[in-house]
Amino acid sequence: MIWYPYIQMKNMKPPYKIIDAEGVYLKTADANLIDSISSWWCMIHGYKHTELNEAMKVQIDRFSHCLLAGLSHDPIERLNEKLETFLPGDLNYYFFSDSGSVGVEVALKMAVQFNKNRGAVRSKMLALKNAYHGDTFMTMAVGDDEDYHNAFPKNPNVIHIPTNIEDLEKAFAQYGDDLICFIAEPLLQGAGGIRMYDISFLRRARQLCDQYDVVMIFDEVATGFGRTGNRFVSDLVLPDIAVFGKALTGGYVGHALTAATKKIFDGFYGDDPSLAFMHGPTFMGNPLVCSLALKSIEIFERDDYMSKIKRIEEIAKRELIGFQDERIADVRVMGGAFCIEVKDGKTLDGFQDFAYKRGVFVRPFVRYMYGMVPYIITEEQLVQITDTMKAWFRR
Ligand SMILES: Cc1ncc(COP(=O)(O)O)c(C=O)c1O
Repeated sequence: MIWYPYIQMKNMKPPYKIIDAEGVYLKTADANLIDSISSWWCMIHGYKHTELNEAMKVQIDRFSHCLLAGLSHDPIERLNEKLETFLPGDLNYYFFSDSGSVGVEVALKMAVQFNKNRGAVRSKMLALKNAYHGDTFMTMAVGDDEDYHNAFPKNPNVIHIPTNIEDLEKAFAQYGDDLICFIAEPLLQGAGGIRMYDISFLRRARQLCDQYDVVMIFDEVATGFGRTGNRFVSDLVLPDIAVFGKALTGGYVGHALTAATKKIFDGFYGDDPSLAFMHGPTFMGNPLVCSLALKSIEIFERDDYMSKIKRIEEIAKRELIGFQDERIADVRVMGGAFCIEVKDGKTLDGFQDFAYKRGVFVRPFVRYMYGMVPYIITEEQLVQITDTMKAWFRR
């Protein structure tokens, strides 16, 4: 039996069966559905993209995998070279892994060992309320979501604060000298409720991390590659470690990249073998995913995706901001993400089937009806999504 994610299997409604997918469309036997959430926010170029398919096929015909320990290959070397100019600042040291969760684990392990290697005795991590960083143990600990992780004990060494500067300053005043790291989904918190906050919070966090010598980690697994309307939030505020995933491979195959600055890398570099970073997923730096990532970045730059995302933001704002209903608590838009938050989650019961009949695949959760669309979406397709959202309240 297939054990599905985030669902009580006993009363789960049967899944829609996808038989094909192309462009922004997921296809079932009786419907063509615009994928309003880009298969959990990763499918930025849409499905069956000719160039991505080709990049993968070419590499498959050469070789599809080899371990990275003690070996190298052309796709990873070319990707390494590309990332050095594509990613901001000196985020030039790249550790690859299989998924966003593992990429964040890697970042947290780096922060812990960075401190140990320099002889700093620190015990706490600072994270955000409503954070989501993955489903493995330590990512759950820095995450803050009862709905996802209620079966697991809280970690007393992780402090969660809301995204306001007053609480941030208080936390640093109280724990600053004992902090291993500060971790955040920058500007946009996804699974915690498509929540958006201001860059001033991160700017102040950067100052405080510098002041207290705390490792700053951005989890850009969801925000990276344009989702917030910035290429990377790390372009605006440079963290010490940034994690990328999802769109990294154009959404084709799971992979993550934990990128560190020279300062972090140097903390592991030396003659003593015990300083080395001890982590090594089987599929890290897989040649197929590296080929995909390279092609995905090439398309992202060549086709000026940032202006596509700007257009998505403008259309979503035009269609949604100001939309009112007494059941709605808030409407918000940032870059390629938009959300209608309702007061009571029950308001969204049945919305998925309603949208299916209108040719849109949606996946509302808790109190959030939202879109994180593929960047290749047309205006007409985007309006079909926003119209479907609005129609739900007008029926
Ligand atoms: C911000 C963030 N971090 C980490 C993850 C985990 O990524 P993965 O599902 O690839 O493990 C997610 C997934 O949604 C995410 O949104």
